[in-house]
Amino acid sequence: MPTRPTALVTGASRGIGRAIALELASTHDLVVVARTARDLWTLADEATRRGAQVTPIECDITDPAAVDRELDAVDCDVLVNNAGVAVLKPFLQLTPDEWHRMVDVNVNALYHVTRAVLPGMVERGRGHVITISSTAARNTFVNGSCYVGTKHFVRGFCECLMLEVRDSGVKVSMINPGSVATELFPAGTDTSWMITPEDVALAVRHQVDTPPHLLQYSVEVRPLTPKRRRDGSAR
Ligand SMILES: NC(=O)c1ccc[n+]([C@@H]2O[C@H](COP(=O)([O-])OP(=O)(O)OC[C@H]3O[C@@H](n4cnc5c(N)ncnc54)[C@H](OP(=O)(O)O)[C@@H]3O)[C@@H](O)[C@H]2O)c1
Repeated sequence: MPTRPTALVTGASRGIGRAIALELASTHDLVVVARTARDLWTLADEATRRGAQVTPIECDITDPAAVDRELDAVDCDVLVNNAGVAVLKPFLQLTPDEWHRMVDVNVNALYHVTRAVLPGMVERGRGHVITISSTAARNTFVNGSCYVGTKHFVRGFCECLMLEVRDSGVKVSMINPGSVATELFPAGTDTSWMITPEDVALAVRHQVDTPPHLLQYSVEVRPLTPKRRRDGSAR
């Protein structure tokens, strides 16, 4: 039986990462990473039923030693840097913990995880690093000082890395979702108008399936109809 390629997905315990893992399960074996073991095992059961061999890894990706220990030996063809956190509130109300958590997960963990698996891709002369950024990577909005700042960082990071490694045969690309109905938003948020995690997973599927010679660097996915019409009225 031909061996399947392997995809490593961070933040796979719920939301967008879970949907990406399930989408890729029909074609890839999976390494799924998050802190919540129970949810990873539930995902693993479902992904196994779709044909994947699944390795769940319980890991806080903000911890460089843990990432080294858990991910250094992982050979993967696709890395999906998806894990992220958002606390949207006025700058002066952000606690130091909230600030550091966003920078640690959205920025520093990108370094730890990408650093663990990129050398293998470069050595093999193929691979694809897909990072879930956001439309916030090029927009700004009130209450987004830290979150938006981290996503602007992600955009700069991805574009530099893409230029740096494409000669070695490794693709680097970004998916930029608008609003997606997940637990990233506080309980009680009206998510009825948002796109779904599965919509974002389809964009990842499309990136993964691009022909070897083609690098589709950046894709934006957003609801066709926004929350408010242009005249300001609600939908
Ligand atoms: N929802 C949106 O509207 C939206 C829009 C644009 C971009 N995005 C981006 O999409 C990505 C996924 O967000 P989501 O909406 O799916 O959020 P979510 O439902 O809250 O899921 C976040 C995921 O990140 C994981 N995670 C958080 N901290 C972690 C850590 N320290 N170590 C390992 N895993 C960690 C969580 O797992 P554990 O808690 O189990 O560790 C969870 O699986 C983020 O990068 C986000 O910025 C979301």
